[in-house]
Amino acid sequence: MSSTTKPEGLAGIVAGDSSICLCGAKDESLLYRSYTIEDLAEYSSFEEVAWLLLRGTLPSKKELRNYQQELKELRYLPTGLKRILEEIPGDANMMDVLRTGCSALGNLEPETEELPKYAIADRLIAIFPSILLYWYKYHTEGKQIIVETDDDSAAGHFLRLLLEKEPDETHRRCLDVSLILYAEHEFNASTFTVRTIASTLSDFYSCICGGIGALRGPLHGGANEVAMELIQSLDSPAHAEQEIQKMLKEKQLIMGFGHRVYTTGDPRSPIIKKWAQKLAELVGDTHIIPVSMRIEEVMREEKNLFPNLDFYSAAAYHFCGIPTPMFTPLFVMSRITGWCAHLLEQRGHNKLIRPVSNYTGPKPKKWESME
Ligand code: COA
Repeated sequence: MSSTTKPEGLAGIVAGDSSICLCGAKDESLLYRSYTIEDLAEYSSFEEVAWLLLRGTLPSKKELRNYQQELKELRYLPTGLKRILEEIPGDANMMDVLRTGCSALGNLEPETEELPKYAIADRLIAIFPSILLYWYKYHTEGKQIIVETDDDSAAGHFLRLLLEKEPDETHRRCLDVSLILYAEHEFNASTFTVRTIASTLSDFYSCICGGIGALRGPLHGGANEVAMELIQSLDSPAHAEQEIQKMLKEKQLIMGFGHRVYTTGDPRSPIIKKWAQKLAELVGDTHIIPVSMRIEEVMREEKNLFPNLDFYSAAAYHFCGIPTPMFTPLFVMSRITGWCAHLLEQRGHNKLIRPVSNYTGPKPKKWESME
């Protein structure tokens, strides 16, 4: 019955070493393997970032070309997995589809000691869009689509499978940038879950299934979907102001705002906001962005809170023609890179993660047989 003081939700606790990502809380900065998120979003591609996070250095042009080709060849679905996806109900939560898909793949292609170090990571990076869109098209349109495409990028591959046409280049690049922004964020809840499972020396797939489970919640990855639903439910900026004031009075959380680590702003938010505004201009939007911006203003005035990556990602995805229930699964398709990098780093210098709890129960009691 110790009385240790503990921060709620482990806030501010340094829970381990990592050389993958630096989340600068005070200066609103974010580095992946020492490169700024601004440079990566401007000059890089998701595949380049995936390589960087996993292997620790940027790929040469030749390595990147080979890697893109390798990922393309890993997009196929085994027949057994297709059957399982066909059996999952059409109204299932799409995060559950990815979690089950990942778990099923772990049975069909289990981890063995002989596999090269990055084999499962690369397979999962390549296969998640195939899993989701095979299931989606089967249940919404009754067809068994061919999931192999010739697109070099995951973003192009995803949009082609979803929309069944040549992806618009602005949409493709917007999605590519968003996958870069979502790829890694040090010891967030899902990554820490992955590391905790990895620390028991469990298998690769179990770690990733745990990560998907943690990301599904609206306080983490699920926030982008709830943000979109809220924005779409509001008729105008004036209505947004009224509704947000009311929600705040009722002590409701506004999804897509605030952050555990950043205190003044999320460095990823201005990048995705610019993309959302650019796409909005292209379609002559007079609703989504004006409403979003009024919500942002009210949140600053009333709570001094700023939008996190999830808030304007919602608008950006919407303008790319992506259905809202796919927003959090897209987060998985990106964050799988960070999860895998952390899993491998944890395995590299492993120590079982097992903290202690502060006991708050009753004093010891003498055993009595109950009547
Ligand atoms: N809407 C309204 N109020 C919010 C808020 C939000 N999005 N985020 C934080 N607050 C308020 C809290 O209610 C609390 O107010 P109080 O002191 O009056 O009780 C205060 O700000 C501190 O918040 P707290 O919940 O202690 O911060 P946290 O570090 O535990 O939470 C988040 C961080 C991200 C979980 C939190 O900001 C949140 O729930 N955001 C919405 C979900 C979201 O967008 N998640 C994606 C994160 S990238």
